[in-house]
Amino acid sequence: MEEMLETFPQHNCTWLKVNLTLYKYQNFWTTKQFLEGGILTQKNFKAEPTDIFLCSCPKTGTTWLKALAFAIVTCHNFNKSTSPLLTSSPHDCVPFIEKSIQIVGKNPKDSNFPLIATHLPYPSLPESVISSNCKIVYIYRNTKDAIVSQYHFLRKAFMISLEDAPFDMAFDEFCQGISAYGPYWDHILGYWKANLESPDRILLLKYEDVKTDPITNVKKLAEFMGYPFSIKEETSGVVDDIIKLCSFKNLSNLDVNKTGRSKFCSEVENRLFMRKAKDGDWEKYFTDEMKEKIDKLMDEKLSGTGLVLK
Ligand code: A3P
Repeated sequence: MEEMLETFPQHNCTWLKVNLTLYKYQNFWTTKQFLEGGILTQKNFKAEPTDIFLCSCPKTGTTWLKALAFAIVTCHNFNKSTSPLLTSSPHDCVPFIEKSIQIVGKNPKDSNFPLIATHLPYPSLPESVISSNCKIVYIYRNTKDAIVSQYHFLRKAFMISLEDAPFDMAFDEFCQGISAYGPYWDHILGYWKANLESPDRILLLKYEDVKTDPITNVKKLAEFMGYPFSIKEETSGVVDDIIKLCSFKNLSNLDVNKTGRSKFCSEVENRLFMRKAKDGDWEKYFTDEMKEKIDKLMDEKLSGTGLVLK
């Protein structure tokens, strides 16, 4: 693995002022550890038709999607007062395959539990995910907030102050396509195109849409995963309970997400996954020039695809 990795293109994230190297493999960039996990996943993981993959580019709503999907799938076993989400990070409730395959081994998934998460781009998913015809849910988010979210996440993970982490350099790197699991646009386009080809197999959720209309989107997610709510559940408030349980306000105030670390992402504190969850936070960081540059770039990259990300 070490020898193979050394043959891949590498990039040092100089704006971070720490030694973080990203490797380019199959047209996406990621860290050594996640890449090792991704390659092990491709080689060893065998998906079952009943598996449900939760896929995302980092900082686009992964934590929220994991919480919502977990709460839906387990709503007959737990309620709002007994849910494991009250005491465990969503990242421990739904394992991240690239990491868990390194910790747990060949098949990190509990066969009785359908959910598993990955950041792998669609073309790099293990072949069995496609051939098993299992379901895939993909969450994506507007580019500008994702840039800011990633900037703060990395900055805080490496304990770098705002002054020591030039945002304009991080922004330029992102625009060059160099970001975690990026190019960002290619990550989204991969799943976007796959959804156009197989809408029954792949559900796309937009972070901003889930925020504006959580009820419709949570019901859509539940139906797609094969766990629809009954009329009785809907009238007794189960959907509302799930939305409240998984809300940013609730999760970010739980001890486990304020002070804990998850087993599968132990390098960083859980609180780093919950920053502000505010749409439009990018406005505080972008100059007019940056806004113009990213809008133009995204227009070019998404032109003719039907995907709108603004
Ligand atoms: P911000 O950095 O903009 O606050 P990911 O889970 O893919 O790492 O994405 C992290 C982003 O999702 C962060 O965005 C974080 O605050 C936000 N987030 C985390 N939990 C959330 C929740 N329950 N509801 C909405 N947004 C959430």
